[in-house]
Formats: sequence, structure tokens, C-alpha cells
Amino acid sequence: MQMTETIRELTDRRSVRAFLDTPLTEEEKTAILLASCNAPTAGNQQLYSILDITDQGIKDRLAVLCDNQPFIADAPLVLIFAADQQRWYDAYLLENADPRRPEEGDLLLAVTDACIAAQNAVTAAHSLGIGSCYIGDIMENCEAVRELLCLPPYVFPCAMLVFGRPKPFVPGSRKPPRFDLKDIVFENRYMQKTGDELRSAMAVKNSGMKPYADWVRAFCKRKYDSAFSREMSRSLREYLAPFSDRSDQL
Ligand SMILES: Cc1cc2nc3c(=O)[nH]c(=O)nc-3n(C[C@H](O)[C@H](O)[C@H](O)COP(=O)(O)O)c2cc1C
Repeated sequence: MQMTETIRELTDRRSVRAFLDTPLTEEEKTAILLASCNAPTAGNQQLYSILDITDQGIKDRLAVLCDNQPFIADAPLVLIFAADQQRWYDAYLLENADPRRPEEGDLLLAVTDACIAAQNAVTAAHSLGIGSCYIGDIMENCEAVRELLCLPPYVFPCAMLVFGRPKPFVPGSRKPPRFDLKDIVFENRYMQKTGDELRSAMAVKNSGMKPYADWVRAFCKRKYDSAFSREMSRSLREYLAPFSDRSDQL
């Protein structure tokens, strides 16, 4: 396989959830933020804002609101990547460009933009020896999160990242395994797998001792059918409702 320093770092990176107390330097933080902002961005619009959470009280609250994950409060750097349709919409309004209201498609494009910027931060941090972990639960409890962060209507927090210098990994632990390439890359057209093909592809994710079917059922309950997953969908429905109200455009 072709190997470069960048590919090696992308392949070696693991999520880090235990951090040393040492803060990041301002230079490190600026380097991470600049790497983020140099990511590809739709129409060069940078449809995102980045909230740098330095207030310990806000970190503590986020640790609770994001499915009670205490390591959030202990992270030396916490960045929230928010899909931001507000900036351009306000600019259009200010200059009487007569814009339509932001719609679902604009939101998806902004979420894509924000996540790509976030991933640049992960990669830049890793190259500096700084670990990170995404927190998807920032999309839960939308009312409380929006109030905490003073978000205007067209700003949607879609990714949170916590960063810090890694504590050593537990001996023997390893990066969670990925699907084989043959099970995830399709040539030209999508091919839905047969039952046996699917079982064979999925088995790589079962690193425990449980028989495959028991493991799948337990995983479904713990992740897909979990309280946090339901809360995230409720939050999103709540946030998205005004987007489909087109009554002002009839
Ligand atoms: C969108 C997204 C949301 C995630 N949310 C969480 C989270 O809330 N808590 C957590 O500990 N890890 C979270 N993770 C980290 C994943 O669990 C981790 O990336 C995955 O298990 C693969 O492990 P690796 O990053 O070490 O390769 C999230 C990752 C992504 C991409």
C-alpha cells in the first residue's frame, strides 16, 4: 500500500477520551483553528461558526447535556462546530438582496461544511500530538444547548470536539476495527448485500465474546434504539419544524 506521513497519521489516529491537565498553547489552538478554516467549503462561503468553549461552567453543563460524558468537562480544548446559515442570510438582508428564508438543503450543505472543517481540526491536532474525540450528542437537548450557547435561529451545532494531550491508552487496547474495503466500496452502483454477505461484513465489528446475533441485538438496543438516539431525533424534529413552514411564501 502507498504510504505517506499524512496517510500514516490518518490511519493511526484513535479517539482520545482521557487527557492530561496541561493546557494547549495559544499557538497550537490557532494552528488547529486555521487548519479547520482552510478546509474545502461550499462556494467558499464557510457555512459554519466555531465556538471555543473556555468557560468551565459551560463545559460542565455540556458534559451533562451531551448524554452525561464527564470527560467533556475535563478537556483542555472544547470546540463546537455549528452549521451557520445566519451569517450569509443576515448579509443578504442587510443589503436588501431579497433572500428566501434558509431551507433544508441549505442546512445540509452547512452541516457538511461544518463537519469537514471539524475533521481538519482532528487531523491537524493529531499531527501536533494532540488527541481528540467527537461528541455527536451535541445534537441532543437542542432547547437547552441553544439557550446555553445563545444561538440564533439559523445556527445549528452539529459537531463538538474535545481535545487534549492524550493520557496513555489502556495497555492492550486498540483502535476499533473498520469494515474491509471490499464491504464498503462499490464500483459504480450500490449493491445491497444478501444475509450471509451482510453477516460476514458486519462480523468484524463484533470484538466481544457474544455470538453474532446476540451482539447485533444488544448493539441495536444500546445505540440505535437508545434514549440518546431518540432524544437526538426529537431535538432535530423540533429544530427542523420551522424550516418546512412555508406559509409566509404562499
Ligand atoms: C459523529 C460522531 C459522533 C461521536 N460521538 C461520540 C460521543 O458522543 N462520545 C464518544 O465517546 N465518542 C464519540 N464518537 C467517537 C466514536 O465513538 C469513534 O470515532 C469510533 O468508535 C471509532 O473509533 P476511533 O475514532 O478511535 O477510530 C463520535 C464520532 C463521530 C464521528
